[in-house]
Amino acid sequence: MSLELLINRNEMPAYKKVKEIKSGGQAAVWRGRDMDSGKYVALKYLTVRGERRPKSAEAEEERIRFVREVKTQQDLDHPHITPVLAYSGKVHHPWYAMPLADDTLDDSLKGPKRDTSWSLEALHQVIDAMQYSHDRGVIHRDLKPSNVLRINGSWLVSDFGYCRNIHSESVKMTQAKALLGTWFYAAPEQFDDAHEAGPPADIYALGKILMYSLTGNPPGPYLRLKGVPEQYKEVITICVAEEPEDRYQSMGELREALLTIAPRTH
Ligand SMILES: Nc1ncnc2c1ncn2[C@@H]1O[C@H](COP(=O)(O)OP(=O)(O)O)[C@@H](O)[C@H]1O
Ligand SMILES: [Mg+2]
Repeated sequence: MSLELLINRNEMPAYKKVKEIKSGGQAAVWRGRDMDSGKYVALKYLTVRGERRPKSAEAEEERIRFVREVKTQQDLDHPHITPVLAYSGKVHHPWYAMPLADDTLDDSLKGPKRDTSWSLEALHQVIDAMQYSHDRGVIHRDLKPSNVLRINGSWLVSDFGYCRNIHSESVKMTQAKALLGTWFYAAPEQFDDAHEAGPPADIYALGKILMYSLTGNPPGPYLRLKGVPEQYKEVITICVAEEPEDRYQSMGELREALLTIAPRTH
């Protein structure tokens, strides 16, 4: 096992890699250790087609996107958004450090079925995070249970990899990619033109997450309300409406709709 020392911007050894947690096409997440405090952290590295130190033009575009993800996430200071503890955007070797999560919403939902108030509290925490983020012009565009982490007993939104700041030009970079995010959580307009994806795209994803958490069944390509408690069917139907203008237009509206059905229990 490699126990590579990472060098932070002050040239001090900062984090040590300990063990790989998960790796996909675009990133590898490792359990790491903060060498000053001795605390465990998570380290996320950019990989392109599984390579750690890619050199192509595509890789350079991915690197710029990764650094944008990190900076966007770092600027969002909210109890339900995963903080960035440190990062390096150096060419061919970008990474960032964040608190180590105990669980993901995805892994929790794969376990024994949760009761409705448990699911709704998780949803409310994500809604709080996303209202804050939208207020600052940041649309996540890839909300799904594997991007919601449990840290110190709270749910935190993570992985702003496909985010876009509606006040910046940066959308041009990802516009060419026809498919963003994960198929069943992505709103229809994200398949047409990523440019079009505003706050209602995140509302759509939350509708799918709500459906999953209330039924224990992961979403498919179409709306299937079987197993959804009667009083939540309308909210979900509005969240996942085909046209963005037929959905709730803000996280505040979605929260209100949920609170008229049941108060928050935590
Ligand atoms: N802070 C963390 N602590 C523990 N596991 C994490 C952490 N961040 C991510 N992971 C794990 O790694 C997976 C991928 O991380 P994510 O940031 O979503 O990267 P990707 O861009 O590959 O989707 C997550 O679904 C989760 O299982
Ligand atoms: Mg992810």
